[in-house]
Amino acid sequence: MIKQSKKLNKLPPYIFSIINALKSEAYSKKLDVIDLGMGNPDMPTPEAVINRLVDTIKNHPGTHRYPQAKGMPKLRKTVCDWYKKRFDVEINPGNEAIVLIGSKEGIAHMCMAYLDPGDIALVANPAYPVHFNGVFLAGGKVYDMPLGEKNEWLPDLTKIPEKIARRAKLMFLNYPNNPTTAVVNDISFFKEVVRFAKKYNIIVCHDNAYSEVTFDDYVAPSFLQTPGAKDIGVEFYSLSKTYNMAGWRIGFCLGNSKIIAPLEKFKSFIDYGVPTFLQLAGVAALNSRDDMMKKTLTEYRRRRDKFCDGLNKIGFNVNKPKATMYLWVKIPEIIRNGQKLDSLKFSEQLLKTTGIVCSPGSGFGKYGEGYVRFSLVTHFNRFHDALLRLKKFIRG
Ligand SMILES: Cc1ncc(COP(=O)(O)O)c(C=O)c1O
Repeated sequence: MIKQSKKLNKLPPYIFSIINALKSEAYSKKLDVIDLGMGNPDMPTPEAVINRLVDTIKNHPGTHRYPQAKGMPKLRKTVCDWYKKRFDVEINPGNEAIVLIGSKEGIAHMCMAYLDPGDIALVANPAYPVHFNGVFLAGGKVYDMPLGEKNEWLPDLTKIPEKIARRAKLMFLNYPNNPTTAVVNDISFFKEVVRFAKKYNIIVCHDNAYSEVTFDDYVAPSFLQTPGAKDIGVEFYSLSKTYNMAGWRIGFCLGNSKIIAPLEKFKSFIDYGVPTFLQLAGVAALNSRDDMMKKTLTEYRRRRDKFCDGLNKIGFNVNKPKATMYLWVKIPEIIRNGQKLDSLKFSEQLLKTTGIVCSPGSGFGKYGEGYVRFSLVTHFNRFHDALLRLKKFIRG
């Protein structure tokens, strides 16, 4: 049997595949599964977007041909106009914006475009897994920037050894953050990042997937709002969460044109980009009325409040997040059969005994241990059931 490549073999075991296998088993046993695992929005895509897709696909057969790989000018212009309106950031659609098949694809290929074997990337830990797996796949080395409660889940750049900083090529950050739900209050942390990146000549890749999923009057900034950010960095943006379009696979890389060019070049050897009819639907999404998003946010907030309040009543200690559709929950000291549960065990046992799916914190990196993430992606009424089951579960 021919073996898979060493590169692939080196990838840490995908903890979520363990959970996925258990989930399939639970479904096959006809267990009533409450799936709060993946960050997979359950609410509908805006109607205007669907109508646009249907009309385009039916009446404009030219859109069935190969798309323009870096994204059609109309979509690139629309996302740049949106950035101007939303963040007051000027981006040139000609060379400072490309379309991605979702930001996950773009982040993985960014690593391929920049990292040679042994090159270092600074990656927050815990993180959305492609931030570190992308580095491993490219043969690069991850230097962890630990996030923790004490630092409000922001990396301490002063702790990065000079030797590492000098060698690092890329840095990955993400606020509002998955999985910790942390946010930056303003751009002061981003200013520190720009100073650091300029000093050591590092490309900053800011993942901005959740800037629009915010609550309680919190408004998330873009990294590109920071003075000097465009000199050293790019931002990944996505339609997946904002418009409930996770399955449509539309994302963007925006920022420094010289930094984007190698990513565009790399992709040109691999893919043809997002189908044109989807790109046009993406235009409709970015031009859609704000009240579409408001409905989604109101529902996420309702679920957040219900689940958070309920968890706090049954012995958890959870803060209400200002952003994202997740709860990042510290595992209470649970002893089962004399065993303290780590995040994988907690998630496995929770799923096996209650049918509730959550994501073990260790799946996002070792500094995620001790926590689990619940996604607020199921019907409001289900959270009542989930709380009853959790109460029973933690009382043993
Ligand atoms: C931080 C972060 N970045 C990117 C993504 C993926 O986005 P996309 O659907 O655009 O690939 C996710 C999805 O959960 C995410 O949490």
